[in-house]
Amino acid sequence: MCGIVGYIGKNQDIRMGIEALRRLEYRGYDSAGAAWYNSDKKDIFLVKKAGRIDNLEKAIQESNLVSSGNPFILHTRWATHGGVDDINAHPHSDCKNEIFLVHNGIIENYQELKEKLIKEGHKFCSQCDTEVLSHLIEKYFQGNLEEAVRKALKEVRGTYGLAVISKKDPGKLVAARLSSPLLLGINQDEILVASDPSAVITHTRQVINLDDNEIAVLKPENFFILKEKPVIQIEWTAEEAQKGDYPHFMLKEIMEEPEAIENAIRGRLIPEEGQVKLGGLSSVEKKLREINRLLLVACGTASYAARTGEYMLEEYAGIPTEIDIGSEFRYRKPIVDKKTAAIFISQSGETADTLAALREMKEKGTMALGITNAVGSTQSRETDAGVYTRSGPEIAVASTKAFIGQLITLALLTVYFGRQRDMALVMGQRIVSELAKLPELARKVLKQAPEIEKIAKKYKDCKNFWFIGRKYNYPMAMEGALKLKEISYLHAEGVASGELKHGALALIDENFPTIVISPSDSVYEKTISNIQEIKARKGPIIAIATEGNEEIKNLVDDVIYIPKTLEMLTPILSVIPLHLFAYYTAVALGKDIDKPRNLAKSVTVE
Ligand code: F6R
Repeated sequence: MCGIVGYIGKNQDIRMGIEALRRLEYRGYDSAGAAWYNSDKKDIFLVKKAGRIDNLEKAIQESNLVSSGNPFILHTRWATHGGVDDINAHPHSDCKNEIFLVHNGIIENYQELKEKLIKEGHKFCSQCDTEVLSHLIEKYFQGNLEEAVRKALKEVRGTYGLAVISKKDPGKLVAARLSSPLLLGINQDEILVASDPSAVITHTRQVINLDDNEIAVLKPENFFILKEKPVIQIEWTAEEAQKGDYPHFMLKEIMEEPEAIENAIRGRLIPEEGQVKLGGLSSVEKKLREINRLLLVACGTASYAARTGEYMLEEYAGIPTEIDIGSEFRYRKPIVDKKTAAIFISQSGETADTLAALREMKEKGTMALGITNAVGSTQSRETDAGVYTRSGPEIAVASTKAFIGQLITLALLTVYFGRQRDMALVMGQRIVSELAKLPELARKVLKQAPEIEKIAKKYKDCKNFWFIGRKYNYPMAMEGALKLKEISYLHAEGVASGELKHGALALIDENFPTIVISPSDSVYEKTISNIQEIKARKGPIIAIATEGNEEIKNLVDDVIYIPKTLEMLTPILSVIPLHLFAYYTAVALGKDIDKPRNLAKSVTVE
């Protein structure tokens, strides 16, 4: 949520910063800005523009401001405080235009600080909370930028990842973090600071994650942080974060879903023992045997993975499992004891609400496990142990392959916990062998992309959709609906099939289609009753059914087939057509697929 880039080193050209910022555009795209030090003029130049990074680049080209020197700082914004315009865009500066900064997060006491600073004579020009930071740093500045930053931050309540430069203390970039991700990219003759590894990946794969309350001082030849810190290697390459020949990242990422399954299971299945090997849990293996209750906490799409996990873990591992969304969990009074473990699921590992819930659980002494895609993320550093989904970089705002990675990881955990308890060897072997077949089955589903595209075009002018499913596929109904609304802006809701008759059915008519997830599983016959209820009211139906089910063709308008697998694993196949359906509908409607309006990847504010 918002992207930060800062640079100090051999490169003198702000275009390099723009190039890095583009790789963060998925984090926010309301406006963008840059400030850079010009060593000839001994001054800092500032350009900021509402809209996409293209607008910023054009404005820089037209400004005739020479860029010869650094440091520079850049920002791409997802607005919280203050409208989307040039003035509220970052960087923000002080009264004398000597200090410039970019900020992610929210300064919660900004109103109070602003009033105080105005009384002291500071002149504000924006409505953005960030501007108080530049004036506070100005207030404390006495020639040493890091000292001023340190003093200013003592007065601040809220969250921040920030990068600051000053023409009165040149040759230096100061970065600081509290609850908003920030990392240093370390390379020979240059150091970058960024809110996300994608920004630094074309320069270096060596990164250092800043911790909360840390301040780093970057100079061209070195950097200084109070604490000795490990250098982490980014596991993916710059190429993996490129669109390649695909028109959109979302399509590329859906097409990578079979690979996401392969990566998540690679080296982890032990077929003969009906067991899985999860290295990230080895340190807590013994303690996990004692656990008799699980809490799964996540937000958005990841919470639907959690919901599916609840069905898996209860049915096959026999552990009472409860799920909640991060933003609510933190305000409840969860009853936990020493035999409870909480599992936090997050693609980015930086979602503020999930992290807040994690910290609440740590505070209570509860064992905290993580499922994340982001190595070195805040979540992975703060949990006691965890499992990486290994889905590779996900750039489209709508999560697809990372969601599949989460489902697979939950299936692996089910075998892990199950085999620690009562799960029979044959059952473990069965799940493990079905998991191994999934990549091929997923590829088979993807081959139907052209048919799914036709179906999406057929229904694109409908304004409302129900998605329904039962048991393992109820969460998939919610996922299908979320994906559709997120990128096509059509109204869609996921409903448990059994709930239709309790209200939702009232809306059904010939213009209100329902997508029914109806694999041939233990609840198939019940779902067929729902199909009849919808048909009796003339509602169009698209069914997701198991290959070989010919009967369903007579009951519904369109069918998309998925191959047969174990009931517990059907969501992993049924969600693929739902992702494609959302994608092709949004394409047919001409929407901005990878950067849907009002949204951004990785929600690092509350
Ligand atoms: C929807 C989507 C979001 C995220 C949610 C949690 O397509 O991507 O709903 O799932 O914001 O994000 P993470 O998994 O990064 O915690």
